[in-house]
Amino acid sequence: MGQILDGKAFANLKADKLKEKVKKLKADGIQPLFCVINIGDDSASKIYVRTKKRRAKKIGIEQKIYQLPANEQESDVIKLIDQLNVDPKVNGIMVQLPVPDQIDENHLLSRIDPEKDVDGLTPASAGRLWQGTHFVEPATAAGIIGLLEHYQIDLDGKNMVIIGRSNIVGKPLAALALEKNATVSLLHHHTQNLKEYTQKADIIVSAAGQANLITADMIKPGAVVIDVGINHVNGHLVGDVAFDEVKDKASWITPVPGGVGPLTVEYLMEQVVKLTRRANG
Ligand code: GUN
Repeated sequence: MGQILDGKAFANLKADKLKEKVKKLKADGIQPLFCVINIGDDSASKIYVRTKKRRAKKIGIEQKIYQLPANEQESDVIKLIDQLNVDPKVNGIMVQLPVPDQIDENHLLSRIDPEKDVDGLTPASAGRLWQGTHFVEPATAAGIIGLLEHYQIDLDGKNMVIIGRSNIVGKPLAALALEKNATVSLLHHHTQNLKEYTQKADIIVSAAGQANLITADMIKPGAVVIDVGINHVNGHLVGDVAFDEVKDKASWITPVPGGVGPLTVEYLMEQVVKLTRRANG
């Protein structure tokens, strides 16, 4: 029976530490301010934005939400980003993804000042991540590495298979895991015979967004299984892993919900605190 990697409990521990750091900043007269730009009415985005607001408040970070209409023009969003970039009170900026079709997300992301890039998704931050000179990390990827470290699961020399090559999770996680000396395979929907890779993996991270993608026959006994999937099946939130059968074969496994999800928001808040301290020397 695999043991549970309890992301929720770890997220609460992190929140307590962050609260202390924010208290110290406030004692020095510094109020961290984090701005979220959300364009349109994607239902998942609305939930993310609300969750972030709640967690920010708990930690003592001020969050400002710029809710823009679905037909907003790219040039107007760019103007807003430019204003926030030069506003000395603003410590962090993020554009909630996805954005509506008339807007090119890369144009927006590349406009954010890397010194305020809480999401680690600007081209400068992504480049620094692969160079090993980064000062921000995309939150979900950082949360996964943090969770493994918290449970003292060493990555050095391990075979790590990541399924999903997104800029938000798969690619940054590959960079961070390489830094920890894992041997990384980055799989995606063109990969042939997934099982050939997953059966050799010491650590499997699935960020594919497909329920029941990872079944017990695909993993080796004692593997560590991290589930980043968020799928809605018959009104229930499930991950990518067939949890009930995989948990008996894995050594460690994250549940959905309560695994990676709560960590993402907490790590995002950590980046806000990090950038606030950096901006204030
Ligand atoms: N939408 C879902 N996850 C994320 C994320 O990590 N960053 C941004 N900017 N948008 C998202």
